[in-house]
Amino acid sequence: MGNSGNSGSNQMWGGRFAAGPSAIMREINASIPFDKALWRQDIAASKAHADMLGAQGIIAADDAALIAGGLDRVAAEYEASGVPENWDLEDIHMTTESRLAELIGPAAGRLHTARSRNDQVATDFRLWVRDAVDQAMNGLLDLQKALVARAGEHAGSIMPGFTHLQTAQPVTLGHHLMAYHEMVARDVSRFAAARVRMNECPLGSAALAGTGFPIDRTRTAAALGFDRPTRNSLDSVSDRDFALDYLMAAAQCSLHLSRLAEEFIIWASQPFGFVTLPDSLSTGSSIMPQKKNPDAAELVRGHSGRIIGCLTALMITMKGLPLAYSKDMQNDKPPVFEAANLLGLSIAAMTGMVAEATFRTERMRAAAELGYATATDLADWLVRAAGVPFREAHHITGAAVKLAESRGIALDQLPLEDLQGIDPRIDDSVYGALSVEASVAARASHGGTAPSEVSKRVAEAARALGLEE
Ligand code: ARG
Repeated sequence: MGNSGNSGSNQMWGGRFAAGPSAIMREINASIPFDKALWRQDIAASKAHADMLGAQGIIAADDAALIAGGLDRVAAEYEASGVPENWDLEDIHMTTESRLAELIGPAAGRLHTARSRNDQVATDFRLWVRDAVDQAMNGLLDLQKALVARAGEHAGSIMPGFTHLQTAQPVTLGHHLMAYHEMVARDVSRFAAARVRMNECPLGSAALAGTGFPIDRTRTAAALGFDRPTRNSLDSVSDRDFALDYLMAAAQCSLHLSRLAEEFIIWASQPFGFVTLPDSLSTGSSIMPQKKNPDAAELVRGHSGRIIGCLTALMITMKGLPLAYSKDMQNDKPPVFEAANLLGLSIAAMTGMVAEATFRTERMRAAAELGYATATDLADWLVRAAGVPFREAHHITGAAVKLAESRGIALDQLPLEDLQGIDPRIDDSVYGALSVEASVAARASHGGTAPSEVSKRVAEAARALGLEE
């Protein structure tokens, strides 16, 4: 650890400077404490670059081979004992190059031909973010599978549907869970679109203007799994849209996870009692023995605030920067690393919650009976069976609800003569429409809550996810 004292002029750009940087300069400048997370990407990009330099005859083939072997040795060291943090070497790029020089001698100095740390970091970071996108999509796939499986189990389980968090109409739990499946599917498509857009290679843009060496950018792009090289060197070294695209997708996704977490928090509360959370994702209280708290869900809800903060941080970092690279951009990494960590945890926590929660369907069904959730069904019956215009039917139903409420009974507990007292067109077939089962079964419009519809949506989603039905 060479992080104290002042060590004279820097070996990489020391020619221009007589004295070493002041202590504060060393500290503010050092990104190695966080960008060491890029070491795998840095080694991979350097190997691709060295191989291309050799193939193009820009450096000798044996130097290229020496560099490749040396980079493998550096990687093995990092793997075994971590990346050393020496602030004098600033970042992962100079740390690796300096260790390479210790291992293979002067040939290491040829690696930086026709590149700059500006295109190097842009490439490394893109590779890292691309992996983060893949991880998010894999995690979301598991969440989708869990949602579809539980929705299939509960395609016919009745619960109250809410608007304004007031009982509105009966729905099925399967329908409610499939609503989140829709959100997650959109999240997946946002990550997928971001991945396509970011998959172009900035390596070879050099400091900002390209290079006079006869490099082959298509070769390095292909070696690193990119679709093609980027088209403008100025943009390439100063673009962080790929990181913002990732953070925007992550922020939107975290917002959905937060809403789902909030559902579980409400459902797990005693007055609701709709769900028993898995012990593995709950905690107890140090003072109240009866407590089982939905901490994981609360933290998912909280993490989304931090993830949105990460997006805001990078947007504000970028918004005033002229072309091309400015050192502000070194601050791009911590928010992306933080968001990726929080998002991964949040997706995993909600996947476990959905997969393992015990839904208390009898409580849900009982709650659906309360709050006159089938009032709309009475109005719809009046329209369908008695030809009453909907506005008038709404009015008649209001009177029936008022009467039932004054007696403290459900709508379908009102005797027929009382209903006929409100409107003589009502007959006894109305009772067939007033149960919560009849209510959900009736809502078989495309995308509606009827168990028959929910089962169709579940089957479609299961097929799309490659699941057995
Ligand atoms: N550590 C730097 C970063 O992450 C690498 C690029 C440095 N470029 C420069 N012109 N000083 O942004």
